[in-house]
Amino acid sequence: MVNVGEVFRVVVNSIARSKVSLIGALISTVIFPFLFVAAALDMQGIIKNPYFGFLTYMVMGPLFGLGLLLLLLGIIFFKGTEDIGIYTYEYLKEQFTKPGRVSRVRRLIILITLIINITIIVVLVFSYSAFHYTESVAFCGQFCHRVMNPEYVTFQNSPHSRVSCVECHIGEDAEWFTRSKFSGVKQLFAVAFDTYSKPIKTPIGGLRPRRQTCEECHRPEMFHGAKLYVKDKFLPDEENTHLQTAMLIKVGSGGYRGQEAHGIHWHVSPENKIVYRYTDRERQNIVEVKLIKADGTEVVYAKTESEAGNSRDSGNPDSQQGGESEMDCMDCHNRPTHIYLSPDEALDLKLFTGEIPRELPFIKREALAAITKKYATAEKARNGINIQLLGWYREHYPEITEKQSSLLAKAVRGVQMAYVENVFPEMNVEWGTYKDFIGHDDNGGCFRCHDGSHRSESGEFISTTCESCHTILAKEQPASEVLNICAMEE
Ligand code: HEC
Ligand code: HEC
Ligand code: HEC
Ligand code: HEC
Ligand code: HEC
Repeated sequence: MVNVGEVFRVVVNSIARSKVSLIGALISTVIFPFLFVAAALDMQGIIKNPYFGFLTYMVMGPLFGLGLLLLLLGIIFFKGTEDIGIYTYEYLKEQFTKPGRVSRVRRLIILITLIINITIIVVLVFSYSAFHYTESVAFCGQFCHRVMNPEYVTFQNSPHSRVSCVECHIGEDAEWFTRSKFSGVKQLFAVAFDTYSKPIKTPIGGLRPRRQTCEECHRPEMFHGAKLYVKDKFLPDEENTHLQTAMLIKVGSGGYRGQEAHGIHWHVSPENKIVYRYTDRERQNIVEVKLIKADGTEVVYAKTESEAGNSRDSGNPDSQQGGESEMDCMDCHNRPTHIYLSPDEALDLKLFTGEIPRELPFIKREALAAITKKYATAEKARNGINIQLLGWYREHYPEITEKQSSLLAKAVRGVQMAYVENVFPEMNVEWGTYKDFIGHDDNGGCFRCHDGSHRSESGEFISTTCESCHTILAKEQPASEVLNICAMEE
C-alpha cells in the first residue's frame, strides 16, 4: 500500500521547496479567475471580438498551462532543500494534531479540494472551447487579419461564405486534423516573425485529399446536362454599353447508376484517371497528360519538345518545382472561394449591380484607368481613386460635378470597392496574382491541356473544339437582345 499521507507530504514540501514550483503555482493562481470568467463569457457568446478569443485561448490558456507545468517540473527536477513557503508538511501536521486548530485546517482542505475540482472542470471546458476557437472563421480570417485579409475578403464575397475555413482546409479526419494543427503552430511563428511569403504561395501543400474535401458536399455524379451561363460586360464608351454573352456550359456528370460520364465532369468519373506532369510550381506548364481508362489501357498525350520548352512560365524564378499529380476538382476549381476578379470583371459586376451608376458617361473607362494604377496601400488606393475620378469629371463634365455630386460619390465608392475586394497591396496581391483555372483566360485554365499541342502516339490531340465544352448562344450582343437570340436558338 502506498502511504497517501507520505506522498502528500512529499508533494507539498516539494512545492514549498522549489522556486520553480512556487512561481508556477503563483502564475496559475493569478490567471485562474480571469481565465474562468473569460471562458464563461465566451461560451455564453457575450463577447464576440476575435482578439478577446485570442487573449483567452492563445494567451491566458497557455499561461495557465505553463504555470501547472512549472509546478510539476519544479517538483521533479528543481527540488530545493530549504523551505521557501510556509505550507510544509510539518506545518500542516502541527495544524492537524493541535486541538482547536483542526477545524480551521479542515476548512482549508475543503477549500483546496474545491479549487482542484473547479480547476479540472475549467481545464476540460477550456480545452473544448480552445479547440473550437481555432476552428472558427474569426480565428482563421480575422485574427491574422493582415496576413489572411485577401483570403478572408474574397471568401466572404463567394458562394462558400457560409462554409467555415476548416471545412475545406482541414476537415473531420483525425490525421489531417493533427497535421494541420502542427502546421498551424508553424504558421503562427511565421506570422510572429514576419517570415511568411507575400503573397502566400499556391498551390498550398498539405491540403488533405482534395476530392474528399469537396465531395463532402458536392457529388458530380449527380450533375447532368448543361448550365446556362450569362456574362455581363460593359464597354469603355460614353454610354458604358451593356453587352451579354450567353452560352450553355456542358457541366456534364461523373456518371452514376447507368448514366454515362459525359461533358466536363467526365474527368472525375470513377472509370477515368488522369495523371499529368508539370514543370512549374503554379502548374501552368503541363507537359504530359496520361489518361488511364477503366480497362487499364493508357493514352499518353505529350507536348512536343519545342512546345514543352516554350513553356507558359510564370516568370517566377523560385517556381521551378515540377511534379506529377492526379487530376481532381481543384485542377479546375482552384478558386471556389478565394475568387479574384480581373479589373474588367470587377467593374462589370459593380456596374451590373448598380453600385457604380451606369448613367455616368465614360465611368467604365475612367474607373478602369484608376484601378489599374499601382498603389502602395489600400488606403492610398482609396484616396487615389477618389482624386482621379473627381478630377476627371470636374474637368470634362463640370455639370455632373455640380448637379449630380451624390451620383459621383456613389460611383467613387463602387470603384473603390472593386479595387479593395480584389487587390491587396499590403500582401503583394495584385490584379492577376492568383490565376483561376476555370475557363481559358490568357490561354491558361482548360487550355493548359486542351490547346492542341498535346499529342498521343497515334496522333490524336486532346480536344480543342469549342463545342465540346460549351455552345455559344450569343457573343457580346446588346443585352436587350440576348434573350431573343437564345429563344430563336431553341
Ligand atoms: C470552399 C472551400 C474553401 C473554404 C471555405 C476556404 N478555402 Fe482557402 N482555399 C481553398 C482552395 C481550393 C485553395 C487553393 C488551393 C490551391 O490552389 O492549392 C485555398 C487557398 C487558401 C490560401 C492560400 C492562398 C490562396 O489564396 O490561394 C489561404 C491562405 C487560405 N485558403 C485561407 C483560407 C481562410 C482564412 C478561409 C476562411 C476565411 C478559407 N481559406 C476558406 C478552399 C477553401
Ligand atoms: C460544407 C459544404 C461545402 C464544401 C466542403 C464545399 N462546398 Fe461548394 N458549395 C457549397 C454550397 C452550399 C454551395 C451553394 C452556394 C450558393 O449557391 O450560394 C456551393 C457552391 C459551389 C459551386 C457553384 C458556385 C457558383 O458559382 O454557383 C462550386 C463550383 C463549388 N461549390 C465547388 C466546390 C469545390 C471545388 C469544393 C472543394 C474545394 C467545395 N465546393 C467544397 C457547399 C460546399
Ligand atoms: C475539368 C475541369 C473540372 C473538374 C475536374 C471538376 N469540375 Fe466542377 N465544374 C467545371 C466547370 C467548367 C463548371 C461550370 C462552370 C462554372 O460553374 O463556373 C463546373 C461546375 C461545378 C459545380 C456547379 C454545378 C452547377 O450545376 O451549378 C459544382 C458544384 C462542381 N463543379 C463541383 C465539382 C467537384 C466537387 C469536382 C471534383 C469531384 C469537380 N467539380 C471537378 C469544371 C470542372
Ligand atoms: C490536365 C489536363 C486537362 C485539363 C486541365 C483539362 N482537361 Fe479536359 N480532358 C483532358 C483529357 C486528357 C481528355 C480526354 C481526351 C479528349 O477527350 O480530348 C479531356 C476531355 C475533356 C472533355 C470531353 C469529355 C468527353 O465527354 O469525352 C471535355 C468536355 C473537357 N475535357 C472539358 C474540360 C474543361 C472545361 C476544362 C477546364 C475547366 C478541362 N477540360 C481541363 C485533360 C484535361
Ligand atoms: C476545354 C473546354 C473549352 C474549350 C475547348 C473552349 N472553351 Fe470557351 N470556355 C470554357 C469554360 C469552362 C468557360 C467558362 C468559364 C467560366 O465559368 O467563367 C469558357 C468561356 C468562354 C467564353 C466566355 C468568356 C467570358 O467572357 O467569360 C467564350 C467567349 C469562350 N469560352 C469562347 C470559346 C471559343 C470561341 C472556343 C473555341 C475556339 C472555346 N471557348 C473553347 C471551356 C472551353
